[in-house]
Amino acid sequence: MPYLLGIDIGTSGTKTILADHKGVIKAEAIAGYPVHSPRPGWSEQDPEDWWKGARTSVRAVLKAGGVKADDIGGIGLSGQMHGSVFLDRNGEVIRRALLWNDQRTGRECEEIVSRAGGQKRLLAMVANPAFTGFTAPKILWLRNNEKRNFDKVKKVLLPKDYIRYRLTGEYAAEVTDASGTLLFDVAKRQWSKTLMGKLDLDMDLLPPVFESTVVSGVLTKEAARSLGLRAGTPVAGGGGDQAMGAVGNGIVKKGVVSAMMGTSGVIFAYTDKMETEPAGRVHTFCHAVPGKWHMMSCMLSAGGMYQWFRNVLCGEEAAAAAKKGVDPYDIITTAAAKVQPGAEGLYCLPYLTGERTPHADPYARGCYIGLTPRHTKAMLARATIEGITYGMRDSLDIMRGMGVKASEIRLSGGGAKSAVWSQLQADIYGVDACITNSTAGSAYGAMITGGVGAGVWKTIPEACDATIKIVRRIKQDKKQVALYNRLYKPFGGLYEALRENFREIARTNGLL
Ligand code: XUL
Repeated sequence: MPYLLGIDIGTSGTKTILADHKGVIKAEAIAGYPVHSPRPGWSEQDPEDWWKGARTSVRAVLKAGGVKADDIGGIGLSGQMHGSVFLDRNGEVIRRALLWNDQRTGRECEEIVSRAGGQKRLLAMVANPAFTGFTAPKILWLRNNEKRNFDKVKKVLLPKDYIRYRLTGEYAAEVTDASGTLLFDVAKRQWSKTLMGKLDLDMDLLPPVFESTVVSGVLTKEAARSLGLRAGTPVAGGGGDQAMGAVGNGIVKKGVVSAMMGTSGVIFAYTDKMETEPAGRVHTFCHAVPGKWHMMSCMLSAGGMYQWFRNVLCGEEAAAAAKKGVDPYDIITTAAAKVQPGAEGLYCLPYLTGERTPHADPYARGCYIGLTPRHTKAMLARATIEGITYGMRDSLDIMRGMGVKASEIRLSGGGAKSAVWSQLQADIYGVDACITNSTAGSAYGAMITGGVGAGVWKTIPEACDATIKIVRRIKQDKKQVALYNRLYKPFGGLYEALRENFREIARTNGLL
Protein backbone atom coordinates (compact mmCIF):
# COMPACT_ATOMS: atom_id res chain seq x y z
CA MET A 1 0.00 0.00 0.00
CA PRO A 2 1.45 3.38 -0.96
CA TYR A 3 2.68 6.11 1.33
CA LEU A 4 1.96 9.75 0.57
CA LEU A 5 3.85 13.00 0.96
CA GLY A 6 2.36 16.45 1.66
CA ILE A 7 4.76 19.37 1.17
CA ASP A 8 3.79 22.86 2.40
CA ILE A 9 5.97 25.79 1.33
CA GLY A 10 5.29 28.05 4.33
CA THR A 11 6.62 31.49 5.18
CA SER A 12 8.77 30.40 8.11
CA GLY A 13 9.74 27.05 6.61
CA THR A 14 8.80 24.08 4.45
CA LYS A 15 6.90 21.39 6.28
CA THR A 16 6.69 17.89 4.87
CA ILE A 17 4.59 15.04 6.22
CA LEU A 18 4.74 11.37 5.38
CA ALA A 19 1.48 9.44 5.84
CA ASP A 20 0.30 5.92 5.10
CA HIS A 21 -2.64 5.08 2.81
CA LYS A 22 -5.04 5.56 5.75
CA GLY A 23 -3.77 9.08 6.34
CA VAL A 24 -1.88 8.19 9.54
CA ILE A 25 1.16 10.44 9.86
CA LYS A 26 4.40 8.47 10.10
CA ALA A 27 6.85 11.38 10.15
CA GLU A 28 6.99 15.13 9.78
CA ALA A 29 9.84 17.60 9.36
CA ILE A 30 10.28 21.35 8.99
CA ALA A 31 13.19 23.15 7.34
CA GLY A 32 13.25 26.89 8.08
CA TYR A 33 14.45 29.92 6.12
CA PRO A 34 14.43 33.70 6.49
CA VAL A 35 12.06 36.42 5.27
CA HIS A 36 13.91 39.47 3.91
CA SER A 37 12.52 42.94 4.48
CA PRO A 38 14.84 45.36 2.65
CA ARG A 39 12.45 48.29 3.31
CA PRO A 40 9.47 48.91 5.63
CA GLY A 41 6.46 47.06 4.24
CA TRP A 42 8.54 44.89 1.90
CA SER A 43 8.60 41.14 2.36
CA GLU A 44 10.63 38.82 0.13
CA GLN A 45 12.02 35.30 0.01
CA ASP A 46 14.52 33.44 -2.09
CA PRO A 47 12.78 30.61 -4.02
CA GLU A 48 16.01 28.61 -3.80
CA ASP A 49 15.47 28.49 -0.02
CA TRP A 50 12.05 26.88 -0.58
CA TRP A 51 13.64 24.27 -2.81
CA LYS A 52 16.34 23.54 -0.22
CA GLY A 53 13.58 23.37 2.42
CA ALA A 54 11.65 20.85 0.31
CA ARG A 55 14.73 18.70 -0.25
CA THR A 56 15.80 18.71 3.38
CA SER A 57 12.34 18.02 4.81
CA VAL A 58 11.48 15.27 2.29
CA ARG A 59 14.76 13.48 2.98
CA ALA A 60 14.18 13.87 6.73
CA VAL A 61 10.70 12.25 6.67
CA LEU A 62 11.84 9.39 4.44
CA LYS A 63 14.62 8.67 6.92
CA ALA A 64 12.47 9.07 10.04
CA GLY A 65 9.65 6.95 8.56
CA GLY A 66 12.04 4.25 7.34
CA VAL A 67 10.32 4.38 3.95
CA LYS A 68 11.92 3.66 0.58
CA ALA A 69 11.54 5.78 -2.57
CA ASP A 70 9.40 3.09 -4.23
CA ASP A 71 6.89 3.20 -1.34
CA ILE A 72 5.80 6.77 -2.14
CA GLY A 73 2.66 6.63 -4.30
CA GLY A 74 1.86 10.33 -4.58
CA ILE A 75 2.80 13.86 -3.60
CA GLY A 76 0.58 16.88 -2.94
CA LEU A 77 1.73 20.49 -2.68
CA SER A 78 0.58 23.40 -0.57
CA GLY A 79 2.12 26.83 -0.18
CA GLN A 80 1.92 30.40 1.00
CA MET A 81 -0.40 32.15 -1.45
CA HIS A 82 -0.10 35.24 -3.68
CA GLY A 83 3.73 35.32 -3.92
CA SER A 84 5.37 36.10 -7.25
CA VAL A 85 8.21 34.01 -8.63
CA PHE A 86 9.52 35.72 -11.77
CA LEU A 87 11.25 33.34 -14.19
CA ASP A 88 13.28 34.14 -17.32
CA ARG A 89 13.22 32.18 -20.57
CA ASN A 90 15.55 29.54 -19.10
CA GLY A 91 13.32 29.03 -16.07
CA GLU A 92 15.82 30.86 -13.83
CA VAL A 93 14.60 33.04 -10.96
CA ILE A 94 15.11 36.75 -11.83
CA ARG A 95 14.81 38.33 -8.38
CA ARG A 96 13.62 37.39 -4.90
CA ALA A 97 9.87 36.62 -4.75
CA LEU A 98 7.51 39.24 -3.29
CA LEU A 99 5.36 37.60 -0.59
CA TRP A 100 1.68 37.60 0.44
CA ASN A 101 2.32 40.16 3.22
CA ASP A 102 4.35 42.58 1.10
CA GLN A 103 2.74 46.02 1.13
CA ARG A 104 4.65 47.96 -1.53
CA THR A 105 1.97 47.87 -4.22
CA GLY A 106 -0.58 50.48 -3.04
CA ARG A 107 -0.15 52.50 -6.26
CA GLU A 108 -0.38 49.42 -8.48
CA CYS A 109 -3.68 48.45 -6.81
CA GLU A 110 -5.07 51.85 -7.77
CA GLU A 111 -3.71 51.34 -11.29
CA ILE A 112 -5.49 47.96 -11.56
CA VAL A 113 -8.83 49.40 -10.42
CA SER A 114 -8.52 52.22 -12.91
CA ARG A 115 -7.43 49.98 -15.84
CA ALA A 116 -10.28 47.56 -15.01
CA GLY A 117 -12.79 50.42 -15.26
CA GLY A 118 -13.60 50.60 -11.54
CA GLN A 119 -13.99 48.34 -8.55
CA LYS A 120 -17.35 46.91 -9.66
CA ARG A 121 -15.98 45.80 -13.01
CA LEU A 122 -12.91 44.32 -11.36
CA LEU A 123 -15.12 42.28 -9.00
CA ALA A 124 -17.15 41.06 -11.97
CA MET A 125 -13.96 39.86 -13.71
CA VAL A 126 -12.03 38.22 -10.88
CA ALA A 127 -14.47 38.19 -7.89
CA ASN A 128 -12.03 40.06 -5.66
CA PRO A 129 -10.78 43.64 -5.23
CA ALA A 130 -7.13 44.62 -5.63
CA PHE A 131 -5.23 43.85 -2.42
CA THR A 132 -1.59 44.85 -2.07
CA GLY A 133 -0.56 41.28 -1.21
CA PHE A 134 -2.07 39.70 -4.34
CA THR A 135 0.04 38.69 -7.34
CA ALA A 136 -1.20 41.00 -10.13
CA PRO A 137 -0.10 44.25 -8.43
CA LYS A 138 3.34 42.67 -7.87
CA ILE A 139 3.74 42.11 -11.62
CA LEU A 140 2.77 45.72 -12.27
CA TRP A 141 5.17 46.88 -9.56
CA LEU A 142 8.00 45.08 -11.35
CA ARG A 143 7.00 46.74 -14.63
CA ASN A 144 6.79 50.18 -12.97
CA ASN A 145 9.92 49.92 -10.85
CA GLU A 146 12.33 47.32 -12.20
CA LYS A 147 11.75 47.52 -15.93
CA ARG A 148 14.96 45.63 -16.78
CA ASN A 149 13.86 42.71 -14.64
CA PHE A 150 10.32 42.89 -16.00
CA ASP A 151 11.57 42.67 -19.59
CA LYS A 152 13.23 39.35 -18.77
CA VAL A 153 10.08 37.74 -17.27
CA LYS A 154 8.64 34.85 -19.27
CA LYS A 155 6.63 33.09 -16.53
CA VAL A 156 5.14 34.10 -13.20
CA LEU A 157 4.58 31.25 -10.74
CA LEU A 158 3.13 31.00 -7.25
CA PRO A 159 5.49 29.67 -4.55
CA LYS A 160 4.36 26.03 -4.48
CA ASP A 161 4.07 26.04 -8.29
CA TYR A 162 7.73 26.99 -8.47
CA ILE A 163 8.49 23.89 -6.38
CA ARG A 164 6.23 21.88 -8.71
CA TYR A 165 8.36 23.18 -11.58
CA ARG A 166 11.54 22.05 -9.80
CA LEU A 167 9.95 18.66 -9.07
CA THR A 168 8.34 17.91 -12.42
CA GLY A 169 9.79 20.36 -14.93
CA GLU A 170 6.20 21.48 -15.68
CA TYR A 171 4.77 24.97 -15.49
CA ALA A 172 1.35 24.49 -13.86
CA ALA A 173 -1.03 26.20 -11.44
CA GLU A 174 -4.25 25.03 -9.80
CA VAL A 175 -7.52 26.81 -9.13
CA THR A 176 -7.29 27.62 -5.39
CA ASP A 177 -3.97 29.46 -5.53
CA ALA A 178 -4.73 30.96 -8.95
CA SER A 179 -7.83 32.56 -7.33
CA GLY A 180 -5.52 34.71 -5.18
CA THR A 181 -3.58 36.19 -8.09
CA LEU A 182 -6.34 38.65 -9.08
CA LEU A 183 -5.82 37.37 -12.64
CA PHE A 184 -8.26 34.47 -12.37
CA ASP A 185 -11.89 34.33 -13.39
CA VAL A 186 -13.01 32.59 -10.20
CA ALA A 187 -16.54 31.94 -11.54
CA LYS A 188 -15.28 30.19 -14.69
CA ARG A 189 -12.22 28.63 -13.05
CA GLN A 190 -9.85 29.90 -15.75
CA TRP A 191 -7.41 32.81 -16.22
CA SER A 192 -9.13 36.12 -16.99
CA LYS A 193 -8.11 37.04 -20.52
CA THR A 194 -10.15 40.23 -20.16
CA LEU A 195 -8.24 41.54 -17.16
CA MET A 196 -4.87 40.41 -18.54
CA GLY A 197 -5.71 42.44 -21.65
CA LYS A 198 -6.67 45.52 -19.66
CA LEU A 199 -3.44 45.28 -17.68
CA ASP A 200 -1.52 44.89 -20.92
CA LEU A 201 0.01 41.61 -19.78
CA ASP A 202 0.83 38.67 -22.03
CA MET A 203 -1.24 35.49 -21.41
CA ASP A 204 1.95 33.45 -21.90
CA LEU A 205 3.15 34.70 -18.53
CA LEU A 206 0.65 32.37 -16.88
CA PRO A 207 0.98 28.56 -16.70
CA PRO A 208 -1.84 26.10 -17.54
CA VAL A 209 -4.25 25.75 -14.63
CA PHE A 210 -5.80 22.53 -13.22
CA GLU A 211 -8.19 21.42 -10.50
CA SER A 212 -6.40 20.61 -7.23
CA THR A 213 -6.73 16.83 -7.46
CA VAL A 214 -5.39 16.56 -11.01
CA VAL A 215 -1.90 15.11 -11.41
CA SER A 216 -0.04 17.97 -13.04
CA GLY A 217 3.24 16.15 -13.61
CA VAL A 218 5.58 13.43 -12.38
CA LEU A 219 8.99 13.65 -10.71
CA THR A 220 11.89 14.14 -13.09
CA LYS A 221 14.99 11.95 -12.76
CA GLU A 222 17.00 14.89 -11.50
CA ALA A 223 14.46 15.89 -8.84
CA ALA A 224 14.00 12.27 -7.79
CA ARG A 225 17.74 11.91 -7.27
CA SER A 226 17.93 15.12 -5.33
CA LEU A 227 15.03 14.26 -2.99
CA GLY A 228 15.71 10.55 -2.63
CA LEU A 229 12.46 9.64 -4.44
CA ARG A 230 11.45 7.62 -7.51
CA ALA A 231 11.31 9.28 -10.95
CA GLY A 232 7.74 9.19 -12.25
CA THR A 233 6.06 9.67 -8.82
CA PRO A 234 2.84 11.65 -9.49
CA VAL A 235 2.51 15.23 -8.15
CA ALA A 236 -1.10 16.45 -7.76
CA GLY A 237 -2.18 20.07 -8.20
CA GLY A 238 -2.53 20.65 -4.43
CA GLY A 239 -3.57 24.13 -3.36
CA GLY A 240 -2.91 27.42 -1.62
CA ASP A 241 -2.14 26.94 2.07
CA GLN A 242 -5.58 28.10 3.18
CA ALA A 243 -7.50 25.73 0.91
CA MET A 244 -5.12 22.94 1.91
CA GLY A 245 -5.46 23.85 5.60
CA ALA A 246 -9.24 23.67 5.15
CA VAL A 247 -9.03 20.25 3.48
CA GLY A 248 -6.69 19.16 6.26
CA ASN A 249 -9.34 20.19 8.76
CA GLY A 250 -12.34 18.77 6.88
CA ILE A 251 -13.85 22.08 5.72
CA VAL A 252 -15.23 20.48 2.57
CA LYS A 253 -18.98 20.56 3.25
CA LYS A 254 -21.66 23.18 3.76
CA GLY A 255 -22.06 24.52 7.31
CA VAL A 256 -18.48 23.75 8.39
CA VAL A 257 -16.50 26.91 9.12
CA SER A 258 -12.97 27.23 10.48
CA ALA A 259 -10.85 29.80 12.29
CA MET A 260 -7.13 29.33 11.77
CA MET A 261 -4.62 31.40 13.73
CA GLY A 262 -1.18 31.13 12.20
CA THR A 263 0.97 34.17 11.47
CA SER A 264 -2.11 35.29 9.55
CA GLY A 265 -5.64 34.67 10.82
CA VAL A 266 -8.23 33.13 8.54
CA ILE A 267 -11.96 32.46 8.71
CA PHE A 268 -12.82 29.92 6.02
CA ALA A 269 -16.30 28.86 4.86
CA TYR A 270 -17.13 26.28 2.18
CA THR A 271 -19.76 27.34 -0.39
CA ASP A 272 -21.61 25.25 -3.01
CA LYS A 273 -22.13 28.30 -5.23
CA MET A 274 -19.82 31.21 -5.80
CA GLU A 275 -20.69 34.07 -3.41
CA THR A 276 -19.12 37.52 -3.62
CA GLU A 277 -19.27 40.14 -0.88
CA PRO A 278 -20.42 43.34 -2.68
CA ALA A 279 -17.63 45.46 -1.16
CA GLY A 280 -15.02 42.69 -1.51
CA ARG A 281 -14.32 42.70 2.23
CA VAL A 282 -13.77 38.93 2.24
CA HIS A 283 -12.19 36.82 -0.51
CA THR A 284 -14.07 34.57 -2.93
CA PHE A 285 -11.84 31.76 -4.17
CA CYS A 286 -12.20 28.35 -5.81
CA HIS A 287 -12.07 25.43 -3.39
CA ALA A 288 -9.91 22.35 -3.81
CA VAL A 289 -13.11 20.28 -4.12
CA PRO A 290 -13.66 20.41 -7.89
CA GLY A 291 -16.54 22.69 -8.89
CA LYS A 292 -16.89 24.24 -5.39
CA TRP A 293 -15.87 27.57 -3.88
CA HIS A 294 -15.09 29.11 -0.54
CA MET A 295 -15.16 32.45 1.22
CA MET A 296 -12.21 33.44 3.28
CA SER A 297 -10.90 36.33 5.31
CA CYS A 298 -7.24 36.95 5.99
CA MET A 299 -5.92 39.14 8.81
CA LEU A 300 -2.25 39.65 8.11
CA SER A 301 -1.09 39.62 11.74
CA ALA A 302 -3.05 37.31 14.02
CA GLY A 303 -0.55 34.92 15.62
CA GLY A 304 2.01 37.33 14.17
CA MET A 305 0.87 40.05 16.58
CA TYR A 306 1.13 37.71 19.57
CA GLN A 307 4.55 36.58 18.36
CA TRP A 308 5.69 40.21 18.25
CA PHE A 309 4.35 40.68 21.81
CA ARG A 310 6.29 37.63 22.99
CA ASN A 311 9.50 38.57 21.17
CA VAL A 312 9.60 42.23 22.16
CA LEU A 313 7.98 42.35 25.59
CA CYS A 314 8.34 38.90 27.12
CA GLY A 315 12.07 38.23 27.53
CA GLU A 316 11.55 37.26 31.19
CA GLU A 317 8.80 34.78 30.35
CA ALA A 318 10.93 33.29 27.57
CA ALA A 319 13.84 32.81 29.99
CA ALA A 320 11.54 31.23 32.62
CA ALA A 321 10.03 28.97 29.96
CA ALA A 322 13.45 27.84 28.77
CA LYS A 323 14.38 26.92 32.37
CA LYS A 324 11.16 24.94 32.90
CA GLY A 325 11.21 23.44 29.41
CA VAL A 326 7.76 24.85 28.57
CA ASP A 327 6.43 27.05 25.78
CA PRO A 328 6.72 30.80 26.62
CA TYR A 329 3.20 31.31 25.21
CA ASP A 330 1.84 29.06 28.00
CA ILE A 331 3.28 31.34 30.66
CA ILE A 332 2.06 34.52 28.94
CA THR A 333 -1.42 33.17 28.22
CA THR A 334 -1.83 31.74 31.74
CA ALA A 335 -1.14 35.22 33.15
CA ALA A 336 -3.57 36.75 30.63
CA ALA A 337 -6.28 34.29 31.70
CA LYS A 338 -6.26 35.79 35.21
CA VAL A 339 -7.12 39.26 33.87
CA GLN A 340 -10.77 40.35 33.67
CA PRO A 341 -12.31 40.39 30.15
CA GLY A 342 -11.67 43.76 28.52
CA ALA A 343 -8.40 44.30 30.47
CA GLU A 344 -9.78 47.44 32.16
CA GLY A 345 -10.70 49.16 28.91
CA LEU A 346 -7.55 48.30 26.96
CA TYR A 347 -7.92 47.56 23.22
CA CYS A 348 -5.29 46.22 20.85
CA LEU A 349 -5.49 46.82 17.10
CA PRO A 350 -3.38 43.99 15.67
CA TYR A 351 -2.56 45.62 12.32
CA LEU A 352 1.22 45.26 12.59
CA THR A 353 1.82 44.67 8.90
CA GLY A 354 -1.08 46.73 7.56
CA GLU A 355 -4.34 44.85 7.06
CA ARG A 356 -6.17 43.01 4.31
CA THR A 357 -9.62 41.87 5.53
CA PRO A 358 -11.93 43.43 6.38
CA HIS A 359 -9.87 46.66 6.19
CA ALA A 360 -7.85 46.70 2.96
CA ASP A 361 -5.25 49.13 4.26
CA PRO A 362 -1.48 48.82 3.84
CA TYR A 363 -0.98 51.83 6.16
CA ALA A 364 -2.89 50.49 9.19
CA ARG A 365 -0.61 49.80 12.16
CA GLY A 366 -0.67 48.03 15.53
CA CYS A 367 -1.92 50.05 18.51
CA TYR A 368 -2.80 49.76 22.17
CA ILE A 369 -5.62 52.14 23.07
CA GLY A 370 -6.77 52.81 26.60
CA LEU A 371 -3.52 52.44 28.58
CA THR A 372 -3.52 53.66 32.19
CA PRO A 373 -0.85 53.46 34.93
CA ARG A 374 -2.69 50.38 36.29
CA HIS A 375 -2.01 48.31 33.19
CA THR A 376 0.32 45.35 33.60
CA LYS A 377 2.01 43.10 31.07
CA ALA A 378 -0.63 40.42 31.72
CA MET A 379 -3.35 42.95 30.88
CA LEU A 380 -1.52 43.85 27.66
CA ALA A 381 -1.36 40.15 26.84
CA ARG A 382 -5.11 39.77 27.43
CA ALA A 383 -5.86 42.83 25.28
CA THR A 384 -3.61 41.38 22.56
CA ILE A 385 -5.38 38.03 22.25
CA GLU A 386 -8.78 39.72 22.57
CA GLY A 387 -7.87 42.25 19.84
CA ILE A 388 -6.72 39.51 17.47
CA THR A 389 -9.92 37.54 18.09
CA TYR A 390 -12.11 40.65 17.60
CA GLY A 391 -10.35 41.12 14.25
CA MET A 392 -11.32 37.56 13.27
CA ARG A 393 -14.89 38.16 14.42
CA ASP A 394 -15.14 41.19 12.11
CA SER A 395 -14.86 38.85 9.13
CA LEU A 396 -16.97 36.06 10.62
CA ASP A 397 -19.78 38.59 11.08
CA ILE A 398 -19.48 39.70 7.44
CA MET A 399 -19.83 36.07 6.32
CA ARG A 400 -22.76 35.54 8.68
CA GLY A 401 -24.35 38.60 7.09
CA MET A 402 -23.98 36.83 3.74
CA GLY A 403 -25.91 33.83 5.00
CA VAL A 404 -23.08 31.59 6.23
CA LYS A 405 -24.49 29.49 9.06
CA ALA A 406 -21.71 28.65 11.48
CA SER A 407 -23.32 26.23 13.90
CA GLU A 408 -19.87 25.17 15.06
CA ILE A 409 -16.42 26.50 14.26
CA ARG A 410 -13.30 24.37 13.88
CA LEU A 411 -10.25 25.95 15.46
CA SER A 412 -6.70 25.36 14.29
CA GLY A 413 -3.23 26.89 14.39
CA GLY A 414 -1.52 28.43 17.42
CA GLY A 415 -4.79 29.86 18.82
CA ALA A 416 -6.21 26.33 19.09
CA LYS A 417 -3.21 24.97 21.02
CA SER A 418 -4.17 27.05 24.06
CA ALA A 419 -7.28 26.04 26.03
CA VAL A 420 -7.63 29.65 27.21
CA TRP A 421 -7.54 31.14 23.72
CA SER A 422 -9.85 28.41 22.35
CA GLN A 423 -12.47 29.26 24.99
CA LEU A 424 -11.99 32.98 24.30
CA GLN A 425 -12.61 32.33 20.60
CA ALA A 426 -15.86 30.44 21.31
CA ASP A 427 -17.00 33.31 23.57
CA ILE A 428 -16.00 36.16 21.23
CA TYR A 429 -17.34 34.46 18.08
CA GLY A 430 -20.47 33.43 20.01
CA VAL A 431 -20.47 29.86 18.69
CA ASP A 432 -19.47 26.43 20.00
CA ALA A 433 -16.02 25.44 18.80
CA CYS A 434 -14.24 22.17 18.16
CA ILE A 435 -10.80 20.84 17.41
CA THR A 436 -10.00 17.89 15.15
CA ASN A 437 -7.35 15.17 15.31
CA SER A 438 -5.68 16.84 12.35
CA THR A 439 -2.68 18.77 13.61
CA ALA A 440 -0.50 19.01 10.53
CA GLY A 441 -2.56 21.77 8.85
CA SER A 442 -1.91 22.59 5.20
CA ALA A 443 0.63 19.80 4.73
CA TYR A 444 -2.12 17.32 5.70
CA GLY A 445 -4.49 18.79 3.08
CA ALA A 446 -1.70 18.58 0.52
CA MET A 447 -1.13 14.91 1.42
CA ILE A 448 -4.88 14.20 1.00
CA THR A 449 -4.92 15.94 -2.38
CA GLY A 450 -1.85 13.94 -3.44
CA GLY A 451 -3.66 10.78 -2.28
CA VAL A 452 -6.76 11.58 -4.34
CA GLY A 453 -4.50 12.32 -7.33
CA ALA A 454 -2.78 8.96 -6.86
CA GLY A 455 -6.11 7.10 -6.52
CA VAL A 456 -5.85 6.24 -2.79
CA TRP A 457 -9.19 8.00 -2.18
CA LYS A 458 -11.83 8.81 -4.80
CA THR A 459 -12.66 12.34 -3.65
CA ILE A 460 -11.46 14.92 -1.15
CA PRO A 461 -14.65 14.70 1.01
CA GLU A 462 -14.29 10.88 1.09
CA ALA A 463 -10.67 11.24 2.22
CA CYS A 464 -11.65 13.79 4.90
CA ASP A 465 -14.47 11.55 6.21
CA ALA A 466 -12.02 8.66 6.48
CA THR A 467 -9.24 10.56 8.23
CA ILE A 468 -10.49 13.61 10.17
CA LYS A 469 -12.36 13.30 13.47
CA ILE A 470 -13.44 15.83 16.10
CA VAL A 471 -11.46 15.25 19.30
CA ARG A 472 -12.50 18.18 21.51
CA ARG A 473 -15.56 20.38 21.80
CA ILE A 474 -15.56 23.80 23.47
CA LYS A 475 -18.95 25.15 24.53
CA GLN A 476 -19.50 28.88 24.41
CA ASP A 477 -20.12 30.40 27.85
CA LYS A 478 -23.34 32.40 27.37
CA LYS A 479 -22.47 34.93 30.09
CA GLN A 480 -19.08 35.64 28.55
CA VAL A 481 -20.67 35.82 25.09
CA ALA A 482 -23.01 38.58 26.31
CA LEU A 483 -20.11 40.40 27.95
CA TYR A 484 -17.94 40.15 24.86
CA ASN A 485 -20.77 41.28 22.60
CA ARG A 486 -20.65 44.49 24.63
CA LEU A 487 -16.85 44.81 24.80
CA TYR A 488 -16.46 44.12 21.06
CA LYS A 489 -18.66 47.05 20.07
CA PRO A 490 -16.05 49.88 20.23
CA PHE A 491 -13.40 47.76 18.44
CA GLY A 492 -14.37 48.46 14.79
CA GLY A 493 -14.87 52.16 15.48
CA LEU A 494 -11.27 52.50 16.66
CA TYR A 495 -9.86 51.55 13.27
CA GLU A 496 -12.35 53.79 11.46
CA ALA A 497 -11.39 56.73 13.69
CA LEU A 498 -7.70 56.19 12.95
CA ARG A 499 -7.80 55.38 9.25
CA GLU A 500 -6.85 58.88 8.08
CA ASN A 501 -4.25 59.21 10.83
CA PHE A 502 -2.53 56.03 9.64
CA ARG A 503 -2.27 57.56 6.15
CA GLU A 504 -0.97 60.81 7.52
CA ILE A 505 1.65 59.00 9.60
CA ALA A 506 2.75 57.08 6.50
CA ARG A 507 2.90 60.29 4.44
CA THR A 508 4.83 62.21 7.11
CA ASN A 509 7.35 59.39 7.38
CA GLY A 510 7.84 59.09 3.62
CA LEU A 511 6.18 55.66 3.43
CA LEU A 512 3.33 56.60 1.11
C1 XUL B 1 -3.98 33.85 2.39
C2 XUL B 1 -2.70 34.45 2.79
C3 XUL B 1 -1.85 33.75 3.79
C4 XUL B 1 -0.63 33.21 3.08
C5 XUL B 1 0.46 32.79 4.02
O1 XUL B 1 -4.73 34.69 1.57
O2 XUL B 1 -2.29 35.47 2.34
O3 XUL B 1 -2.51 32.76 4.46
O4 XUL B 1 -1.04 32.23 2.21
O5 XUL B 1 0.24 31.71 4.71
